[in-house]
Amino acid sequence: MDQLLITRPDDWHVHLRDGVALRHTVRETAQCFARALVMPNLDPPVVTTEQALAYRQRILAAIPAGSAFQPLMTLYLTEESSPEEMQTAKASGAIHGVKLYPAGVTTHSSAGICNLERIYRVLEALEAHDLPLLIHAEVADPQVDVFDREQIFIERQLLPLVERFAGLRIVVEHVTTTEAIDFVRDAPMRVAATITAHHLLMNRNALLQGGIQPHHFCAPILQRERHRRALIRAAISGSPKFFLGTDSAPHPKASKECACASAGIYTAPIALGLYAEVFEAVGALDRLEAFSSHYGAYFYGLPRNSDTLCLQRTPTAVPSELDLGDDVVVPLRAGGTVAWTVMAS
Ligand code: DOR
Ligand code: ZN
Repeated sequence: MDQLLITRPDDWHVHLRDGVALRHTVRETAQCFARALVMPNLDPPVVTTEQALAYRQRILAAIPAGSAFQPLMTLYLTEESSPEEMQTAKASGAIHGVKLYPAGVTTHSSAGICNLERIYRVLEALEAHDLPLLIHAEVADPQVDVFDREQIFIERQLLPLVERFAGLRIVVEHVTTTEAIDFVRDAPMRVAATITAHHLLMNRNALLQGGIQPHHFCAPILQRERHRRALIRAAISGSPKFFLGTDSAPHPKASKECACASAGIYTAPIALGLYAEVFEAVGALDRLEAFSSHYGAYFYGLPRNSDTLCLQRTPTAVPSELDLGDDVVVPLRAGGTVAWTVMAS
């Protein structure tokens, strides 16, 4: 199979950033994806509906002419978030999920949640308004081994949460471990997960091969090979609980190539080709369309996209860096190639 014609996919987890970067990130996401769920971890974070709607306008202004790309917005939960704000968010029709960052876990998460009990009323409101809770499922506790942070979060926080809020829809974002896959698989249908291309393609060796590789550093961190294999099995399983979310997260080159590199991998321009590589390597290209274009829309209660996209097995060269407005960003595979190319439509 050298060509693959699929329903146009959506990205259910992306960081578009703000300001002058938007012209670049939005174009590179919109080239392939019809819709994208936009993460709210700006500085300051997007905590109110009003802020999310203003952010949406800035994104809309950055969409290239002729593109039908639609940004789907999210709010950032803080311990000051109110149940009323959740109702306003739902009523806006523009906000499709609310993100829970444990405080200190990743980029711009310091305004996040220290104590889940403080947001129980807000979680009840999400449940009542059927607005999904999107979770960065890691403990921020520095005593916990960095490779165990997802598993411990699931045991200590997520299991009780799923039981306590029996109607709450939850997405465990960017799952990385066998434990997370098993948890989501065995949970009720209202619990789903996104999987990134980079966690499907790389294990933790990629962090240290030939020296420290800051462009492979992300949160949650890359895991052992056996976990990567579990992610692939989930992605190709045909379960609608697992769908595409790139977690494409650009950082300026200088914030990655320095003594204390930021977490985040920029994959937006090549993401679908990377997923195709993974699915092809295990003989499951026929499962790519449902994972990329059907299951996420189903979970979020949105219609499937009506147009199509053609992927061709032709190598795409990846630039060594890309413009990010005032900065440059080094994408994954910089200076290399991706085996599949999205054909211009
Ligand atoms: O690697 C990551 N980068 N993980 C996150 O959770 C946040 C993201 C970012 O915003 O840079
Ligand atoms: Zn993210």
